[in-house]
Amino acid sequence: MENKVDIGVFGGSGFYSFLKNVKEIEVNTPYGMPSDKIAIAEYEGKRIAFLPRHGKNHQYPPHKIPYRANVYAMKQLGVSRIIAPTASGSLKANIKPGDFVICDQFIDRTWGRSDTYYDGPETKHFSSANPYCKELRELAIETSKSLGITTHEKGTVIVIQGPRFSTKAESKWYRNMGCDVINMTQYPECYLAKEMNICYVNISLITDFDAGLEGCEGIEPVTEEEVFRVFEENNEKLKKVLFEMIRKMDCKKECNCGGV
Ligand code: ADE
Repeated sequence: MENKVDIGVFGGSGFYSFLKNVKEIEVNTPYGMPSDKIAIAEYEGKRIAFLPRHGKNHQYPPHKIPYRANVYAMKQLGVSRIIAPTASGSLKANIKPGDFVICDQFIDRTWGRSDTYYDGPETKHFSSANPYCKELRELAIETSKSLGITTHEKGTVIVIQGPRFSTKAESKWYRNMGCDVINMTQYPECYLAKEMNICYVNISLITDFDAGLEGCEGIEPVTEEEVFRVFEENNEKLKKVLFEMIRKMDCKKECNCGGV
C-alpha cells in the first residue's frame, strides 16, 4: 500500500515543521472523517502519520473529537504503534508544570462518547487492565529521562468530560482517589487503540495544578490560556522526545497490547 505507515502520532500542528516532504492525505472511515487530514512523512527510514486530534484549527472540543474515526484511520494506514502526547493538569505537589508523566492507568469520568468498535451485532469484551503499551512506555521513560526532562515513570490519569475544568471539590476528590494527572482526551482514544490492537503510549505534558492545591498558596486555578502557554513553552522538549523515540523505535512489535 502506497501510504503504509508504521507509527502514528496524535499531536499538535507544531510537529510538521520537523519533517520534510510531508504529504497530506484525506482518509475516510466507516466511523466518519477523522479530525483533519493526516500528514504522512518519513523520518529515520520510518513512515509516520500525524493527526492533530482537535483538528488544525482546534475545532473539535474534547467531547466532540471523532475518536473512533481517528484511531480507525491510523489502523487503515497500517499503524501498529501510536504516540499520544497530551496537555494534562497535575493533582500532586511533586508533579510540576513542565514535567512529563508516562501514564500507566486511566480512570474514565467521561460520558456519551462513542467508545467501542463493537456496538453489535458482534459483541466483544476487551481487558483494559493494562491500557498502555509496556514496551512503548519503557521507551518513552528512557528517552525522556535521557534528554534531562523530569519524568514520572507512572501515573493514573483521570479523564474528565470537559470542556469545563474541575471544581476545587472535584479536584480534591480525584487527588484523594489516588489520581495523579487530569485531562480530557485520554478516554476513549487510549482504549480504542487497544480494540484495534495498536500499541499506545501517552506522554502527559504537565501544564498546571488544576484547581489548585491545598497548602500551596499562590497557585491559581487553571485557565485555558495557561494550558496553551505552558504547552507551547515545553513543545520543543516534547518534539525532541517524540523524534528520539521514533528514531530508536523497533518497528517489530513484540508485545500483544490488544486482545480479548
Ligand atoms: N488539560 C490540561 N490541564 C488540564 C486540567 N487541569 N484539567 C483537564 N484537562 C487539562
